[in-house]
Amino acid sequence: MTIDGEDDIAGLRLAGAAVAEARDVAIAAVQPGITTAEHDAIARDVLNDHGAVSAPMLAYDFPGHTCISVNDAVAHGIPSGNRVLATGDMVNIDVSAALDGYWADTGASATVGAPGPVAAKLLEATRLAQSDAMALAQAGRQIRFLGRAVQQRADEYGFSIIENLNGHGVGRFIHEAPEVPSVEHRKNRDRLVEGMVIAIEPFLSVSATHAVEDDDGWTLRTNDGSMAAQFEHTMIVTRGEPIVLTLSA
Ligand code: CO
Ligand code: CO
Repeated sequence: MTIDGEDDIAGLRLAGAAVAEARDVAIAAVQPGITTAEHDAIARDVLNDHGAVSAPMLAYDFPGHTCISVNDAVAHGIPSGNRVLATGDMVNIDVSAALDGYWADTGASATVGAPGPVAAKLLEATRLAQSDAMALAQAGRQIRFLGRAVQQRADEYGFSIIENLNGHGVGRFIHEAPEVPSVEHRKNRDRLVEGMVIAIEPFLSVSATHAVEDDDGWTLRTNDGSMAAQFEHTMIVTRGEPIVLTLSA
């Protein structure tokens, strides 16, 4: 969506605060022995407290309130009482929700226990790639330059990008135009517009370049079994710095 005044900003801020808190509470609960279904319930309770409704459930009949993806599962992982986290697992929790007609989307990755050297580098590179792209999210800028920034950061660290998972417009629905790719498509001359609401969410991997759908019809896994990480924020594009709606409180 493109905002039309202060009411939209206020509504988006409430939706952003709901998903950000759910993300942070769920990430803080990452520990050995917890199941991804328990994580999902923790996030659901936070969304409920805000009066927000799970976006994947509302929009796509997804079988969970949040998407929780472990190791080579990179996105759209189904929360399960059988998936018990163990030390060293890489976990991504993606929380998106609707609140009074406004939709916001966020995600974060973390390891169970202290990250090993490769996981630590992957988390750092992905977090930086996300903030690099976010720093370029300014009205008038061509969207392809955000992807270029993600690529430069991935290259610096020697990681690959999951090229078929994109950021996107958001605000009145969970997935809206435009696509916000994490690689540069040189022929794409689309520009960001003042007031546009977008989610930026690069997925970096140790070596994978694509995500492939699992037999369960939801889970997206890396094409080569290597782990991936993602960080995602929803923001309003302005003529200056974006208004990021999903920062931690
Ligand atoms: Co998203
Ligand atoms: Co998301």
